[in-house]
Amino acid sequence: MQERVVDPNEQSLDEEDVLSLRPSKLNEYIGQHEAKEMLDVYIKAALKRNEALDHVLLYGPPGLGKTTLATIIANELDVNIKVISGPAIERSGDLAAVLSTLNEGDVLFIDEIHRLPRYVEEVLYSAMEDYVLDIMVGKDSQARSIRVDLPPFTLIGATTRFGDLAAPLRDRFGVVLRLEYYSVDDLKLIIDRTARVFETQIDKEASLELALRSRGTPRIANRLFRRVRDFADVRNDGVISLDVCKEALGKLGIDGNGLDYTDYRYLRAIIETFKGGPVGVESIAATISEEVTTIEDVYEPYLLQEGYIKRSNRGRIATEKAYNQLGIKYLKGIFS
Ligand code: ADE
Repeated sequence: MQERVVDPNEQSLDEEDVLSLRPSKLNEYIGQHEAKEMLDVYIKAALKRNEALDHVLLYGPPGLGKTTLATIIANELDVNIKVISGPAIERSGDLAAVLSTLNEGDVLFIDEIHRLPRYVEEVLYSAMEDYVLDIMVGKDSQARSIRVDLPPFTLIGATTRFGDLAAPLRDRFGVVLRLEYYSVDDLKLIIDRTARVFETQIDKEASLELALRSRGTPRIANRLFRRVRDFADVRNDGVISLDVCKEALGKLGIDGNGLDYTDYRYLRAIIETFKGGPVGVESIAATISEEVTTIEDVYEPYLLQEGYIKRSNRGRIATEKAYNQLGIKYLKGIFS
């Protein structure tokens, strides 16, 4: 079985390692120029007024640095950050417990906020808007709601699925920032920085090659970097040359454009099983035995952005670029 390069469950990477790779200040954070510029202003304004920063929603494909950015925001504000994950909070009491530990100005980071259960989410509304917690106590006819004041705090929500957020939650974020795939130049800077963190020598051509194959995503760049470094350590005295880089990426099944084994299976399913589409994502998912959400959140955004597929209201369609990628003759354009 080929190794998966785009692992949707990758948050469990070795945390120590990741932390040292993560920049801690905004001026060390590479790329996302627009988001960074806006945040810089909002953070400075909040500091100047000695107020809590308004609530921030970060959205975009996985691996682009949402958690890193949240940590940086807390650092810049010089406050504590509490990190929780939407699906891990099952009861509204769990969220209330976390909220009640916050100090003035602190950041609460909720990853995958679109996966908070709706009744938990409702606790957030008054917390975000008025800094109060409405808690139900007692049962049945004895049930009543008590109100607890919270200190002003900043909620940072992260999601890969902006459209899945309920409107009342979405509307309570004063700052909404979309993270974009990174340019090759920015990815190259990140890879060079990673090489410095690991004290590894990497040739210019090799870091460019890695950047080209990392599908605009720092998490993938850093992951590929580690694997390539393994090959360099064993076969090239620790130096990441272009040859070592190409050899390792080839063995990992990453092609020249950063597509991996699952991308190929996905494109092949549309082209070979469904005659190029249009086909619904559920049918593709069933054909290649992947979760619909994994396909939608992890694979499709990049394939769409790079023009391998198009979406129509009848489903996904493979483009000529996808046919070329697979070396299959494209006949559709002739008839349509
Ligand atoms: N490591 C991962 N993402 C990064 C980024 N955006 N800037 C700097 N280092 C990073």
